[in-house]
Amino acid sequence: MATIFYTATTLDGFIADPDDSLDWLFRQQQDDTGGPFDYDVFIAGVSALAMGATTYLWVRDNLAASGTAWPYRQPTWVFTHRDLEPVAGADLHFTSDPVEQVHAQMAAVGDGDVWVVGGGRLATDFAAAGLLDEIVVSIAPVTLGSGRPLFPGRFDLELIDHGRNKAFLLGRYKVLGVLTEDR
Ligand SMILES: NC(=O)c1ccc[n+]([C@@H]2O[C@H](COP(=O)([O-])OP(=O)(O)OC[C@H]3O[C@@H](n4cnc5c(N)ncnc54)[C@H](OP(=O)(O)O)[C@@H]3O)[C@@H](O)[C@H]2O)c1
Repeated sequence: MATIFYTATTLDGFIADPDDSLDWLFRQQQDDTGGPFDYDVFIAGVSALAMGATTYLWVRDNLAASGTAWPYRQPTWVFTHRDLEPVAGADLHFTSDPVEQVHAQMAAVGDGDVWVVGGGRLATDFAAAGLLDEIVVSIAPVTLGSGRPLFPGRFDLELIDHGRNKAFLLGRYKVLGVLTEDR
């Protein structure tokens, strides 16, 4: 079991534009199935998800607009200080508890991985608590100049795998810990 921040990013390190648009992402070319770092393979190994309120609202509202069902069968912990409206049929846990406490609950769900969906600050909170094992990025060939940051912290990483999926440069990084002067 590993805790993984698996996400797409721009080359200049943004996971959404300043208006939370992902239009820059969805127009990129990638293999439909079976390519390197395949999403279907990844999600099949996930037992529990964590996401922040903005990400939750983006998924909820974009699905509602397109008439699509909640995409995750796994229990999902949504970090928020607000009383957000749930999606019918989704296994949701709204929380503002410390990441350590929530991570213990997620890890107890099953033997699979914990997926930190985003945003970047929440993923950084998991890393600062020593709870994030890997960052897996699909880097789109686009820059935005501003937006929602990928990972706003100072951490030392080790590249443990790489690849290409059509337009995307792929990287799998092990989180070694907080960046220090001797590392
Ligand atoms: N490129 C990709 O593959 C990808 C992946 C994931 C997300 N995204 C997008 O990236 C954007 C991310 O938005 P974001 O950077 O604003 O991050 P976010 O983590 O989705 O949302 C931030 C909000 O979550 C709540 N929150 C976060 N950490 C918390 C904690 N420890 N305890 C309690 N509440 C916490 C707070 O909401 P409250 O106001 O309720 O306190 C905070 O304002 C979204 O547009 C999303 O759709 C893109």
